[in-house]
Amino acid sequence: MGSLTVRNLPEDVKKRLRLRAAANGRSMEEEIRLLLAEGAAEAPVATKTASAAKGEKAPPKAADATQILLIISGGIAAYKSLDLIRRLRERRYAVRVVMTKAAQEFVTPMAVGALSGEPPFTDLFDQREFDVGHIRLARDNDLIVVAPATADLMAKMANGHADDLATAALLATNSRILLAPAMNPAMWANKATQRNLKTLLADGVVTVGPNRGEMAESGEAGTGRMAEPLEIVAAVEKLLCATTGGKPLAGRHIVITAGPTHEPIDPVRYIANRSSGKQGYAIARAAAELGASVTLVSGPVTLGDVPGVKMVRVESARDMLKAVEGALPADVGIFAAAVADWRTANEGEQKLKKDGSGQPPALALVENPDILATVSKLKWKRPTLVVGFAAETEKVIEHAKAKLKRKGCDWIVANDVSAEGGAMGGDDNAVHLISASGTQAKVESWPTQTKDGVARQLVARIATELNGNAK
Ligand code: C5P
Repeated sequence: MGSLTVRNLPEDVKKRLRLRAAANGRSMEEEIRLLLAEGAAEAPVATKTASAAKGEKAPPKAADATQILLIISGGIAAYKSLDLIRRLRERRYAVRVVMTKAAQEFVTPMAVGALSGEPPFTDLFDQREFDVGHIRLARDNDLIVVAPATADLMAKMANGHADDLATAALLATNSRILLAPAMNPAMWANKATQRNLKTLLADGVVTVGPNRGEMAESGEAGTGRMAEPLEIVAAVEKLLCATTGGKPLAGRHIVITAGPTHEPIDPVRYIANRSSGKQGYAIARAAAELGASVTLVSGPVTLGDVPGVKMVRVESARDMLKAVEGALPADVGIFAAAVADWRTANEGEQKLKKDGSGQPPALALVENPDILATVSKLKWKRPTLVVGFAAETEKVIEHAKAKLKRKGCDWIVANDVSAEGGAMGGDDNAVHLISASGTQAKVESWPTQTKDGVARQLVARIATELNGNAK
């Protein structure tokens, strides 16, 4: 067994490893061991297509990602802000950070940068800040979160100070501001802080916490603990929802596949199936209505474009996979297409002719890529929620549970496509939602309803899943 000397790695690789290790709270050696183990475990996975494996990069920021400016001021609770950055990024928010001078006494800019994906802004007069411009920094965001918000920062805000980057950005912004105060209980209870709080609330600032409980300082307890990162995330989502007209999927990108695929035999013939695309199109419509930005990758159907949705029309399974990969990253992937399992091994360049022998041509078939399984197994670009469909003619739930495991997705929407079920091509659908719940699968059976009804119920469930109970 060979050994690996970290010292001999190229400088940029070492730097990236150091940042990854810091971000994950591991030593560099542990990080390398884990990366190697993950790589080895993934190597033999045959379902991953070569292009997906080659083309996958670290998660880029979605062009339309919601931008949050997080201001960290100097309190002991600043360590929780590291987890907050992580939780926000897990939900695909782009997080840009400003740290006050005092904040840097509690957490390092290096750790913050490793988690947020770019170095934090620390100085009103630093060169990079001149490039971005503190006015732009203040405005180019959908929400400003101050966590922790110290008594001092609240006092400065209430009085309109702007003597450092954090306060200058807060004074220059038009965005909503969410404060997560954190301080000693006596400081919180002090009349001056309460007066400042009243002023800030009257100015439209929103607060989350502080909570009651033990303080970091030994022997201190009372109201002053910063809200937990997940409470802050819930408050963020609630505020964003309110500022986007109450649309719970605003800022989310959803990729949907729909319809059949056509697998060419020769220039005029193809293998197809009876999928109408109605269910996938209905989901695209419902998701767009709830504010999502939707990419609909559609096989050949007779349905018209869905207004407000990015349409990508394809023919074959391979084209569909390419279009889906090109549409990532996304928060959610919904795979409603009836992708052909097989295609012909050799597509004829010319129309196949009867040769007079009475013998039909032998059509050799090869398996198509499984789009749902491929996306479910992606490491960086995997959507937070991957939803597959299962069209079954018997033992619907049993087969769907097995499919959930086999494909590695999070949910399966199972429907009965036997002649009595009538879902294929019809307007109604009776589905079961099967979700992975630990090692068990949870089953919800929904009443028979129109495909539009199923779409609306599914999309509402997705919004709850992404946003928690914040709304
Ligand atoms: O394996 P089966 O076709 O029954 O699985 C159905 C689910 O898998 C659907 O969500 C369908 O869109 C998806 N699928 C896929 N690529 C394939 C076959 C199925 O994405 N090649």
